[in-house]
Amino acid sequence: MHTTAIRTHNPPAVDPHDGLAHQALDIGLQFKARTEIFGRRSTAGEIRNLLVTDLPIEPMAGEAVLAEFVDRVLPLCKNEASPRFMGFGDTGDDHLALAGSVLATLTQQNMINQSFDSPSATFIEITVLRWLRGLLGYANPLVGNVNTVWDVGGMVTPGGTTSNTVAMMLAREAKAPGTMQSGVADPSRFAVVVPRGIGHYSVKAALTWIGCGAHIIEVATDGFRYNTDELARTLREHRDRVMAVIAYAGDSRTQTIDDLRAVHDVVRAIDPKIWLHADACWGLLAAFSPNLRDKIDGIAEFDSITVDPHKIMAVPYGLSALLVRDPAAVRTISTYSDLIMQEDFAFGQVTPFIGTKGWMSLKLWMMMLGRGRAGLVELADHRHEVAQTFAGLVDAHPRLVRLNDLDLAAVVFAYLPAGIEAGNLDDAELDRLNRLNIAIHARMMDEGRWHLHQFTLPDD
Ligand SMILES: Cc1ncc(COP(=O)(O)O)c(C=O)c1O
Repeated sequence: MHTTAIRTHNPPAVDPHDGLAHQALDIGLQFKARTEIFGRRSTAGEIRNLLVTDLPIEPMAGEAVLAEFVDRVLPLCKNEASPRFMGFGDTGDDHLALAGSVLATLTQQNMINQSFDSPSATFIEITVLRWLRGLLGYANPLVGNVNTVWDVGGMVTPGGTTSNTVAMMLAREAKAPGTMQSGVADPSRFAVVVPRGIGHYSVKAALTWIGCGAHIIEVATDGFRYNTDELARTLREHRDRVMAVIAYAGDSRTQTIDDLRAVHDVVRAIDPKIWLHADACWGLLAAFSPNLRDKIDGIAEFDSITVDPHKIMAVPYGLSALLVRDPAAVRTISTYSDLIMQEDFAFGQVTPFIGTKGWMSLKLWMMMLGRGRAGLVELADHRHEVAQTFAGLVDAHPRLVRLNDLDLAAVVFAYLPAGIEAGNLDDAELDRLNRLNIAIHARMMDEGRWHLHQFTLPDD
């Protein structure tokens, strides 16, 4: 039976001259423009005691709610747009990206359906996906041949973790078609190969979330890249078990880009059916500039690519995309429901895990239009050059040792305590070096004046 439902709600109560909304925007922009990362630092316990309160019975005036936020909450927030915030690439401070973010909120389009939920927004989403595909070297069909969401070759997601998870679903269906319906019969056949010690947790987590079990096979690395002889040996040894090989175009720690062409050639020579996934959350940056482009040579041969514009393109959270070389592959993980419109351009059909989805792509569309191709070259070159300058400062310092060769925009270094020389450490010295660096970092975090990232790295 076909039914028609009516849902009622209050009439619109929005005043276009709403002073409060304008005030909120001012507060947000002033926050982003400040030099300090934090207004104040407190322990988690102190913040809990300050902020975890009961819901008052009486309504609070809008002005008072804003004041409450400004006085009690905002000073404790971190500002990633501060020039002292050097922990990650995320800055979220491109002015058109911010404008797009605000407008996406105000326009409240829902990407789940096209015809009535997001009549124009869906096509902005498609445009952005095509721009990203083109930059990475994936072929795009002619615009007139994009007749359904299955012709687009990608989807926008909130983050790299979701994008990687969708990639693992595609790999699973490629390995054992129909698993979406039948369920995983033999999880040991769905193993995934990753480089040892530098992988991102999202791949293993994805496998557990999609019912494949944590069947991860690690391969030794040299200089934070696959040792391709070891990769070949591993694939021969585990051949029938492997559903995917992951390569990092910029790993989370050192942003080293793997030799993607070599990885591709090794994998395809041994088993052309293995799904090849490139995690280019960071490496997308290299696609923008002729000076960096060679570093990702071969990426367009991979079956899928994750990108994370919220890390490198100064757009606010969250925005990632999974791009798929063969757009039709997305059919294998589509969802059919009478609650999602069965219409050609309903993205809800092809975006696993997500129902209602806001217009995340608008901020990137605005940012990319505002910069153009030339501006993206500048963005990439600038980030790389600043990192090179920083690497030079590290190299010139007698007590700092640099631990990576610079591919993108991460400089990895450690402080060497007096009496310890790099390259010649016994276990006790290594322990002392590690403890000292952890302590320096912890103190920096407490003070909140500077922010650097900290992690464990295999000693190369
Ligand atoms: C290489 C890599 N992949 C995936 C992710 C996950 O991305 P997100 O935090 O956007 O989910 C990260 C995040 O740091 C990353 O560095």
